[in-house]
Amino acid sequence: MTILDDLLQNNKSIKNIVILSGAGISAESGIRTFRDSNGLWEDHSIEEVATPEAFQKNPKLVHNFYNQRRKQLLSSEVDFNKAHQIITEIEDSNLYNIVVITQNVDDLHERSGTKNVIHMHGELLKTKCTSCNISSPIDSDLDTQSICSHCDEKGTLRPDIVWFGEMPYQLNEIETYLNSADLFLSIGTSGQVYPAAMFVSTTPSECIKLEINIEKTNISNQFDYSIQESSSKGMEILKNYLLPQK
Ligand code: APR
Repeated sequence: MTILDDLLQNNKSIKNIVILSGAGISAESGIRTFRDSNGLWEDHSIEEVATPEAFQKNPKLVHNFYNQRRKQLLSSEVDFNKAHQIITEIEDSNLYNIVVITQNVDDLHERSGTKNVIHMHGELLKTKCTSCNISSPIDSDLDTQSICSHCDEKGTLRPDIVWFGEMPYQLNEIETYLNSADLFLSIGTSGQVYPAAMFVSTTPSECIKLEINIEKTNISNQFDYSIQESSSKGMEILKNYLLPQK
């Protein structure tokens, strides 16, 4: 019997599943991660493009960075992958209550059909007005002259992304989900960014804690088991335990 058999064999006691996803789940869709070799932070420093101060100092550069990301996300090269799809299948089975808390700003969980998704770090396909504070959908480039469709102000739109130094979204709701988790799955995240990196330690002691990552992370030791595989392979392994075999 493997450790996973041991942990998941009696999965009838698992009702609430909380999934924390990171850039590694979208890597197989062709979206670059942040901290791997060839990660986004190799080309741009966080201070240059991912802080409120950076936006104040050089809004053009920051807009360009997110315009490029948005363009790529909307290009025909990018679509959801097997890992996103299996999460949707598990949600659609109605055997569990599932929430996906994603640090990703892409919409690949939604594209694959997952319904209960929390974007704690914001969304590339949304813009927020710094004047009226309203967030609205966006699928084209933003620049320093863009006009808010709600308050008609010019030059007040920013990407609706949670930058370093800002408060992630929906933390109260996230805490409620974590408190009642029976299975916590962290997939494709390096565990280097807080508060997401401490979610595993805030789940109940009886909650089963699993990690899927191609390599060990610096928080792997906080999990009951780490499946050292790609996101899609790891989800296929997990699916065998969580869904009835056809
Ligand atoms: N399958 C599984 N895991 C993978 C794969 C893959 N195919 N490819 C890469 N990974 C793993 C890497 O080993 C790494 O641990 O995904 C992780 C990606 O880590 P980061 O690049 O640090 O991304 P993430 O953890 O999502 O970053 C968190 O940091 O920069 C901010 O706001 C940004 O939301 C982001 C946050």
